[in-house]
Amino acid sequence: MTKVILSGCLGRMGSAITRLSKEDENVKIVCGLDKFADENTNVGYPVYKDIDALEKDADVIIDFSHPDNLEGLLSFATENNIAIVSATTGHTEEQRKLLKKASELVPVFFSANMSLGINLLIRLAKDAARVLEEDFDIEILEMHHNKKLDAPSGTALAIADGIKEVLKNEHEYVYERQSVRRERERKEIGISALRGGTVVGEHEVIFAGDDELVKLSHSAHSRDVFAKGALRAAKFLDGKSAGFYTMDDMFAEIL
Ligand SMILES: NC(=O)c1ccc[n+]([C@@H]2O[C@H](COP(=O)([O-])OP(=O)(O)OC[C@H]3O[C@@H](n4cnc5c(N)ncnc54)[C@H](O)[C@@H]3O)[C@@H](O)[C@H]2O)c1
Repeated sequence: MTKVILSGCLGRMGSAITRLSKEDENVKIVCGLDKFADENTNVGYPVYKDIDALEKDADVIIDFSHPDNLEGLLSFATENNIAIVSATTGHTEEQRKLLKKASELVPVFFSANMSLGINLLIRLAKDAARVLEEDFDIEILEMHHNKKLDAPSGTALAIADGIKEVLKNEHEYVYERQSVRRERERKEIGISALRGGTVVGEHEVIFAGDDELVKLSHSAHSRDVFAKGALRAAKFLDGKSAGFYTMDDMFAEIL
């Protein structure tokens, strides 16, 4: 049984994890951390506003809160020898360095996208890119709900970065084709964003060759896909030695 401290437990992701953990006999949330906690908070485990009040008898912290919370959580984790799944996004370069530093003392898992499906898509896209690089144009298309502020999505960029990593030739990202009138070059990765409705997250990687298309796609239908991935990462991390872990490490145990 993995004993979890849930940071950001009253938020959207925190609530999904709280609900899903009740159906998972291998996970128990021992307490939560949230700045909105008050005497009326009732989620089935104690919730604190202050990191110092957290239970120390825990295996893994899952953090879906805010980058501001990172430093305090890492101090708490390293002082008490507790692993951490860091799922919050928007960390600064400095904060990323702190995560790496903490991983010298405790196990740290980071993924900007906790969905197993998306991480598998990246892996498959890398394999496809290796095989198809010479003869195919690579385009990435994403769609999200109409409230999303940033474009393209961090996940579309993570897919592009993953592909770029394995290509032999240097490729450039091209976002806005309307701004230049010219033919497409092979050494480009086109990245396009659509916005509308309540779409949780659609990503498609298209490899376009002469007379054939290869398409890899992923659709997220609810936030539960990220919550499930984070719970799986917490169980994976429990009992590991100190180090920096990603979804690729989790896949390596399976593939
Ligand atoms: N890695 C992934 O796959 C993934 C998926 C979804 C969301 N996220 C990220 O997770 C984070 C949370 O997302 P959300 O949709 O649940 O947001 P949310 O705003 O619904 O919830 C965040 C919760 O954290 C709490 N919080 C914020 N700052 C805090 C602090 N300093 N101390 C204690 N509690 C604090 C808030 O009170 C809130 O309840 C965001 O950074 C989001 O981008 C990551």
